[in-house]
Amino acid sequence: MSDGSEALLRVRNLVKDFTSPGGVFGRTRRFRAVDDVSLDVATGETLALVGESGSGKSTTARMIARLIDPTGGTIEFAGREVHELTGKALHAFRGEVQVVFQDPYSSLNPKHTVERIVTAPLVYQKRKVPGGARAFTGALMERVGLNPDHSARFPAQFSGGQAQRIGIARALAVAPKMIIADEAVSALDVSVQAQVINLLRRLQEEEGFSCLFIAHDLAVVRQIATRVAVMNGGRIVETGERDQVFDSPRDDYTRKLLAAVPRIRPEWDAERRRNEQARKDRERKEAGR
Ligand SMILES: Nc1ncnc2c1ncn2[C@@H]1O[C@H](COP(=O)(O)OP(=O)(O)O)[C@@H](O)[C@H]1O
Ligand SMILES: [Mg+2]
Repeated sequence: MSDGSEALLRVRNLVKDFTSPGGVFGRTRRFRAVDDVSLDVATGETLALVGESGSGKSTTARMIARLIDPTGGTIEFAGREVHELTGKALHAFRGEVQVVFQDPYSSLNPKHTVERIVTAPLVYQKRKVPGGARAFTGALMERVGLNPDHSARFPAQFSGGQAQRIGIARALAVAPKMIIADEAVSALDVSVQAQVINLLRRLQEEEGFSCLFIAHDLAVVRQIATRVAVMNGGRIVETGERDQVFDSPRDDYTRKLLAAVPRIRPEWDAERRRNEQARKDRERKEAGR
């Protein structure tokens, strides 16, 4: 994004301090987990936030989603100051930003059926479930590549990749403006990662939502990001277009991160080719109708 005029999300000088009781004299210690972070996400784009574990990625995401309050800085979403929202406006905001977490099994209630899980955000938003819960869930399951007949099943009856698709279906239920994927594919096998990434990309093309995609794995990031922001020690050390960051990184830390990953994974290429073929087949079929 060049001029910033089309930013859906605009974060400026975001800070988060955590305090912990510590020291022999019982003084509380302050620890700055997020330090002066600024970033923009445009409508329909995917900004990847990358960095090693502990660099402050999740804390940044949790402030943006209003799960925790910032110590300082501003977050503007669709023209509103997120940190100032209360009541109805906050409720509406929660329907516009959905989070997909790393561990699908712990983020999906094990005692709830898929149908209950997927429709929960609509119920929370006090919106009608279009066409009834069963049909709505079935249609969403189909869209994320799951069997629509399995909507009465429980999370434990699905594989990790399938469970993450349920998490994505739940996020989609309210047609959000933005999805925050916090290490959403990090716990999956590489080939399953590729499938879930491709699913996200396809859904994004269809729906036009923006994505803040958080990962520590640069090979994953390369598959999905429009732009990349690199975080280290609570700060963003480099931001740029994906290819610029990968092919000519400006920051030493970025170079170090890049040196630590294999450049190409054959699984990704195979998956991409399959996906491309499937898209062509779909288009041909639609054209022939
Ligand atoms: N609730 C909390 N209380 C105290 N420290 C925290 C809390 N949440 C995160 N931290 C610390 O903040 C730093 C950044 O954490 P996090 O945002 O989870 O990093 P990342 O997602 O990049 O791995 C870490 O040092 C972590 O231990
Ligand atoms: Mg994290």
